[in-house]
Amino acid sequence: MRHLISAADLTRDDAVLILDTAEEMARVADRPIKKLPALRGRTICNLFFEDSTRTRISFEAAEKRLSADVINFAAKGSSVSKGESLKDTAQTLEAMGVDAVVIRHSASGAPYRLATSGWIDAPVINAGDGTHQHPTQALLDAFTMRRRLVGRDAGIGQGLDGKRVTLVGDVLHSRVARSNVDLLHTLGAEVTLVAPPTLLPVGVESWPCEVSYDLDSTLPKTDAVMMLRVQRERMNAAFFPTEREYSRRYGLDGDRMAKMPEHAIVMHPGPMVRGMEITAEVADSERCTVVEQVANGVHTRMAVLYLLLGGNEPAVTHTRTEGN
Ligand code: CP
Repeated sequence: MRHLISAADLTRDDAVLILDTAEEMARVADRPIKKLPALRGRTICNLFFEDSTRTRISFEAAEKRLSADVINFAAKGSSVSKGESLKDTAQTLEAMGVDAVVIRHSASGAPYRLATSGWIDAPVINAGDGTHQHPTQALLDAFTMRRRLVGRDAGIGQGLDGKRVTLVGDVLHSRVARSNVDLLHTLGAEVTLVAPPTLLPVGVESWPCEVSYDLDSTLPKTDAVMMLRVQRERMNAAFFPTEREYSRRYGLDGDRMAKMPEHAIVMHPGPMVRGMEITAEVADSERCTVVEQVANGVHTRMAVLYLLLGGNEPAVTHTRTEGN
């Protein structure tokens, strides 16, 4: 694997290797000194053309923990406002010695274009493009599910076979939903989408998942429910569902959460719109893994960066006894 553009490009072996490597990275995070020398001397550019809190900071933390040099580029305040193209921006950064590019862009396909155009030689990692893909989000979600539903040690070498995952809400605009459906299917999970008909994409019937319009009947049969943000910024205002109408049918509150099996978890990729797709009671409950997903994002992105750039050296040298 030279680039990471889409979760659909990952084989089961690729995905399990990334999750297992992320567990190694998590053990490093448990140590007093969290840094590894694996990417010392390498320069990684975080190229963000669209806003982000979690993904941008998580990649930066992952890069620094691997001892890489980090360049952060935000389109706001750059020469993009003067009309500079993606090609010229990327070539300018590569001329400064960048070894890998992490890119977020509002245009679906921008990371693929960057990786395949020949404009630059550096590996490209997709940090979310339009409504298309967000592969590292799907990987950190799968990592969180595997830990919670299979076990931290028991999960090593395993996928998510037979686990029932429900994704709820604005599937139409969600790169998180697309990436998760692809990756969860590859890992053996059974995925159900629950959404209003107006927020499902054309062609969803061909996706490797079930579709339902009834959240209440789906929740008792789920091991993990992932609430999706309603992406008003990508919608025509005429098609906004009212908050009340949406949350009555598709929002997760305490009464609905009580319909889930006791072991089942509640997930959200963030940012959450509290009161719309998820109530504060659920978001702050012990069953909700939102903060855990953020922490796992750093381990998972360290694993992706290490596997793409780190060569064949072992990521972690076990000089301490287990548990340190
Ligand atoms: N989950 C996610 O991609 O969040 P950000 O937009 O804050 O990066």
